[in-house]
Amino acid sequence: MLRAILIGPPGSGKSSVGKALSRELSTSFADTDELIAEREGKSIPEIFSESGEPGFREIEKEVVLNALKSNYGVLALGGGSILIPEVREAIPASRAQVIFLRVGISNVLARIGAKGDRPLLSADPETQWRKIFEEREHIYEELATVEIATDNRKPFEVARDLVVRMGLSRA
Ligand code: S3P
Repeated sequence: MLRAILIGPPGSGKSSVGKALSRELSTSFADTDELIAEREGKSIPEIFSESGEPGFREIEKEVVLNALKSNYGVLALGGGSILIPEVREAIPASRAQVIFLRVGISNVLARIGAKGDRPLLSADPETQWRKIFEEREHIYEELATVEIATDNRKPFEVARDLVVRMGLSRA
């Protein structure tokens, strides 16, 4: 049963908190960016450079909608997946807790580093991140059933806090 969905901007800690939360709940975890890369046999930057953002979103739509119907216990969504109308409809329909991970720019810059694996942030990470967060913040807020800040906190601390706040327990 899908119990928790993690949403939030790039660098908010969706994958690391999601993994920690799935450990706390003794359940499975999946990250839709990883599912996309596995399905396509290509990295996310390769998909962006070959098919552009629209091509990436088409693939993302299918993968996220399938993942929301599958049996993962905890699911981390790519930060931009909530731009897809069908995904915005399917998230509440899943009846899982929807966790919005909030983060400030200084933590983001430290986390995303110079890895170059986020095509939408590769030119000027700070300006681009601020812009996409400004565009998306209200969507994350509207979808969330719980919101938590991850700044300067370890994934397991955030995960334990979530278990208490959401009244979740081990499967
Ligand atoms: C994107 C976020 C990325 C990835 C892709 C696009 C976005 O995932 O799906 O690079 O539009 O914000 P993370 O949120 O895991 O970085």
